[in-house]
Parts: sequence; structure tokens; C-alpha cells
Amino acid sequence: MTMIIPIRPDVSISANQAAIKAAREIADLLREKLNAVIGLATGGTQVAVYRELVRMHKEEGLDFSHATFFNLDEFIGIPPDHPQSFHRYMNEHFFNHVNANRRHVHIPNGMSNQPLAESARYERMIKEAGGIDLQLLGIGRNGHIGFCEPGTFPNSKTHATALTPETRKDAASSFGGLRHVPKSAITMGMATILRSKRIIMLATGKTKAKAVEAMLTGPVTRDCPGSFLQGHPNVSYYFDQSAYARVAIAQSMPTPQP
Ligand code: GLP
Repeated sequence: MTMIIPIRPDVSISANQAAIKAAREIADLLREKLNAVIGLATGGTQVAVYRELVRMHKEEGLDFSHATFFNLDEFIGIPPDHPQSFHRYMNEHFFNHVNANRRHVHIPNGMSNQPLAESARYERMIKEAGGIDLQLLGIGRNGHIGFCEPGTFPNSKTHATALTPETRKDAASSFGGLRHVPKSAITMGMATILRSKRIIMLATGKTKAKAVEAMLTGPVTRDCPGSFLQGHPNVSYYFDQSAYARVAIAQSMPTPQP
């Protein structure tokens, strides 16, 4: 007997292969629907996705000029040109190298002195754009999605949130020490994300193995926001072998007999 999980993940040998497959799914949608609304994510995992999208733009003419983009989140209190801001990340890895229309590129404003109003504005803009056709996601070690940290309600909209110690610790080296890591962020809410028509979940590397296991095989719980994806009808899961390792082991274990 093997354990049955309710999805069909695509497991690649390498992290790069998994990212390339995720990028191709985005490209396929863009070729079908030039004016697609695409939700984007940041993090080390996604760098290879943007590398592939940029390559497809340069070598295959993949056209981003009619699409609209909404990023998941941004830190509160660091300016857009800060080396660790998600604005800067997106420009360096993606927007500076493709033909996206800047007027259709949206990232929450982490410098707003009214995070509540900024969150409401962001939520409204997504709605006005007709909702997100395809949302790219990664997962944090603690199961967070965007910056929907453990404890986030499934009906949450875009909001300002405190970052957990674990999330801040994970960001510490890139910020040059824990004390430089922002304490809060603006993030799409779980409801905002779950309303996307399609979702791509990409997780690679062994540090994500536990979160992937909880997301796929654990209960649907606020303790692991990634688990809410179990209730979404159209998620493509892309993993590398390391991120999927714990699920693979559990699947191949015989079910204990009474
Ligand atoms: C940040 C982002 C998430 C991302 C996570 C994992 O917290 N807000 O959207 O999924 O990091 O990042 P990495 O890919 O670097 O592990």
C-alpha cells in the first residue's frame, strides 16, 4: 500500500529543471493570452524562473508587453532601490530585461506610511485588473506563502503583517545581519492568492522538504499556509528531488497494519 496524495506533482532531478518547467507554463499562458494577469514571487528559488523567461524573451521573442503583473509582497520600511527590496529584485532579475509595460507592473509600496490603505489599494487594483490568471508561488521553510505567515486566515486579503522570527532569520544573511531585516511586510492575503485562476507552486532544495511534506500531505491548517493550496482546483506543483524527498519516502513506506 502506498500513501495517496491528492495531486500530481512534477518532480525534476535538478532545481534548474523544475524552474524551467515553471517558466514554460507561464510562457505557454502568455502565448495563449497576450494580456494575461500574472502574479509573481521573489526568493532564491524563482531566480532560475526569471532567467528562463528572460532567455525566452531574447531568443524566442516571448512578448510581455500586453501582460499585467502583480507581485505577492514587499517589505515595509525599505526603499525600492534597497538591495534587498523586492522592487529591486524584480527589476534586476526580470523587468529590466524584458518588454513589460511598466504601467502594468505592480508591487506593494512598502514605504507607504499608510500600510492599511496601501493594502486596500493593492487588493482593489487586482480586482480591477480582472483577478490573477496565473500566480507563481514559492514556499518558506515555515510553510509561508508570499508573506502569509503561519496563523494567516484563509479569507485574508492583502494586508500588512509581522514577519516571524524564522522568516527574519532566513533573510538575515542577505540583509547583513538579523537586526537589519524588516519586521513587517505587505502581502497579498490567502484569499487574494486562492482566487487566482491558476497557481504554480515551485519549491526546490532540501531546506524545503519539511514544508513541502506539510503542504501536500498534512492537514489543511493555518499552521502551514501552503496547505490551503490543497483546496485550489488548479495548482501545478513543480519540485526538485530534494524538496520532494520526504513525500517520496513517505509514499514508498508500507502503511502500518493494525
Ligand atoms: C520570501 C518570499 C516568498 C518566498 C520565500 C522563499 O519569504 N516572500 O514569496 O516563497 O521567501 O524564498 P526562497 O526561494 O529564497 O527560499
